[in-house]
Amino acid sequence: MLKVEDIHVYYGDSHVLQGVSLEVKSKEIVCLLGRNGAGKSTTMLGIVGVNPPRFGKVFLNGIDITKAAVYRKIRDGLAFVPEDRRIFAGLTVQENLEVAVLPPREGKRQWTIDRIYENFPLLIALKNRKGGNLSGGEQQMLAIARALVGNPLMLLLDEPCEGLAPVIVEELGKVIIGLKSEMPVLLAEQNAHFALSVSDRGYVIDKGVIRYEGTADDLLTNTEIQSRYLSV
Ligand SMILES: Nc1ncnc2c1ncn2[C@@H]1O[C@H](COP(=O)(O)OP(=O)(O)OP(=O)(O)O)[C@@H](O)[C@H]1O
Ligand SMILES: [Mg+2]
Repeated sequence: MLKVEDIHVYYGDSHVLQGVSLEVKSKEIVCLLGRNGAGKSTTMLGIVGVNPPRFGKVFLNGIDITKAAVYRKIRDGLAFVPEDRRIFAGLTVQENLEVAVLPPREGKRQWTIDRIYENFPLLIALKNRKGGNLSGGEQQMLAIARALVGNPLMLLLDEPCEGLAPVIVEELGKVIIGLKSEMPVLLAEQNAHFALSVSDRGYVIDKGVIRYEGTADDLLTNTEIQSRYLSV
């Protein structure tokens, strides 16, 4: 589904991602783990093309999308929920969803706004509330819901549980696991415990280099990797 091959991403002269490769197959939830400043968001921004790789390639379903414009990648099925969520503060929950609707994809069950309310019951009572008046957890749910009504092929989530209460994190975990049968997810997280509880596999990034990859079980029991690169 998504294949990232040896990407190098820079901020000006600063060579931050130094050859990152990873893969997310269909029906897989994969996490990208690493501490603060490790390069998780830079990897996401490189894939989506907000800060495109200077070297290396990104493939979606076998098609080279490295140089494609961001809007084309979104249209072609890559949905990205950034760290800061980017909810429209002046629009209601319902309006935030309405502006994000894209047509369904052939052969896939459509995410309609009605289906969103069935799957995110928390949002029902908030329908008419402005995005700017939502709590962090509510905004995160809305951000994911908004990505889904775009009927993407896959979802990239950048630190969805950052700053959220444990009960909301648990809800979020259920939502992500529920998506597994429909679309693959790439989840960047500092919270390894959370990420590994919902993922099939994981990659560990540090200083812009992938240091380890393994199954979620493998990573959960690998205390050496945890103490060296993660905060579990
Ligand atoms: N806009 C920028 N300009 C210059 N350097 C940046 C910029 N954004 C990030 N960096 C640097 O790139 C490196 C990787 O940062 P990145 O944001 O990808 O980390 P992260 O793993 O997402 O961390 P966090 O968990 O805090 O979100 C860090 O050294 C950071 O200081
Ligand atoms: Mg980040």
